[in-house]
Order: sequence, then C-alpha cells, then structure tokens
Amino acid sequence: MITVVGVGPGNPKLLTSYALEKIKEAKVLVGGKRLLGQFDTKAKKIPYGKNFDLKNIDKLGDSIVVLASGDPLLYGIANTLLKYFKKEEIEIIPGISCVQYMASKLKVSLDDAKVVSFHGRREKLEEILNYKKIFIFTDKVNTPQKIAKDLRKASCTDYVIFVGENLSYEDEKIYKFTLRELAEYEYEFGINLVLLLGE
Ligand SMILES: C[S@@+](CC[C@H](N)C(=O)[O-])C[C@H]1O[C@@H](n2cnc3c(N)ncnc32)[C@H](O)[C@@H]1O
Repeated sequence: MITVVGVGPGNPKLLTSYALEKIKEAKVLVGGKRLLGQFDTKAKKIPYGKNFDLKNIDKLGDSIVVLASGDPLLYGIANTLLKYFKKEEIEIIPGISCVQYMASKLKVSLDDAKVVSFHGRREKLEEILNYKKIFIFTDKVNTPQKIAKDLRKASCTDYVIFVGENLSYEDEKIYKFTLRELAEYEYEFGINLVLLLGE
C-alpha cells in the first residue's frame, strides 16, 4: 500500500493528527527535501526529485508514505500516482491546501473560486479570465510578476492581485497589488500563491 499524506501548507500546526500518525508509522518516507526535513522519524527518507521513478515507487519497501504539500489531490502527487496505480493500491489522506489557508486569512469564500496551476505548466490566460476569483499556483518561471505582466499585455486590468508568500510559516506575508504595481515590483518572492480578484 502506498499512502499519500497531505501535510498542509507547511507549518506543522496545520498537520492533521491522522496525517502525523501515518507519517510516524511509515518505514519509507518519500517527499521533497523541504517536507522531509520537517519530520524526525526512523523511516528511510527518500527525496523526491526530477528523475524520481514514480512508476516503481511500490518497490521501495513495505510501508511507503509519500508526503504531499497541501492537499494531495489538488494539483498534487496523488493525481500522478493514480495514473500508475489502481485506486485500491493507494490511500490518500487529505491535507489543508494553501488555497484554503490563504482564503481563510483573507476571509474570502471559496464557493466561486477557480484554482489553476502555472506550476511547471501553463494554462491559457484567456481560459481563466471568465472567473472573478482565481487562485494560481506559481513557480520560478511563472512568477507573480510574469502573471501580472501577461495580464496587462492582454489588457486585463480589472483585477487586484494578492500574493501569499511562505504561507503558514513564521515569515508569511500577504501582499496586495494593482497589476501595474506588481508588474514593476523588483523582488524575488519565496514560495507563493497568487489570488486574482475581479473588480
Ligand atoms: C504543485 S502545487 C501543490 C499545491 C498543493 N497540493 C496544495 O493543495 O496546496 C505547489 C504550489 O503550491 C503553492 N504553495 C504550496 N505551499 C505554499 C506555501 N506555504 N505558501 C505559498 N504557496 C504555496 C506554490 O504556488 C507552489 O508552487
């Protein structure tokens, strides 16, 4: 059995007790370095990098726990594992997504929210602009500044844009910009989530 555990946005306080139980029971713990470093267990720790052979992850041992940031099924590793393994071979423990976390901080309802990922991929901007509330996962290429510039190029200026940086960690910061301000903002954000709010 492969267990995928959602560990929330990062701060251990936001980990569910069931998730912690599963992590403690693991004999093999697979995950990104940032997440692996957060858990002090006897399990064999295997970092999940670019060349990781996900298709053969079941060969790593008996009790394998895969750490996923936020919720494993929201643009997470559980979706990829479900392509390679049968549903019965995987257990998924939900976690608090950084989307839920940021919405709670800003007191913004999720009822009408659209969530997209620019993390290692590119959804077309025009496909999301029918929405007034859009959460966007970013990466080092698709930065908040790049998104703001692209929106300005597409003449979509009716948004305010929030950037949630290092959410749930001690150095968390949530910024509010106009698109123009963000496009011209010279700063390299830490791990971040973007929220576009239509006016
Ligand atoms: C591949 S997505 C996975 C999202 C995850 N499944 C979830 O539900 O939160 C990774 C992206 O989530 C966002 N992210 C994850 N943790 C974050 C945090 N603590 N603060 C800000 N953004 C975060 C970043 O945009 C990062 O590139």
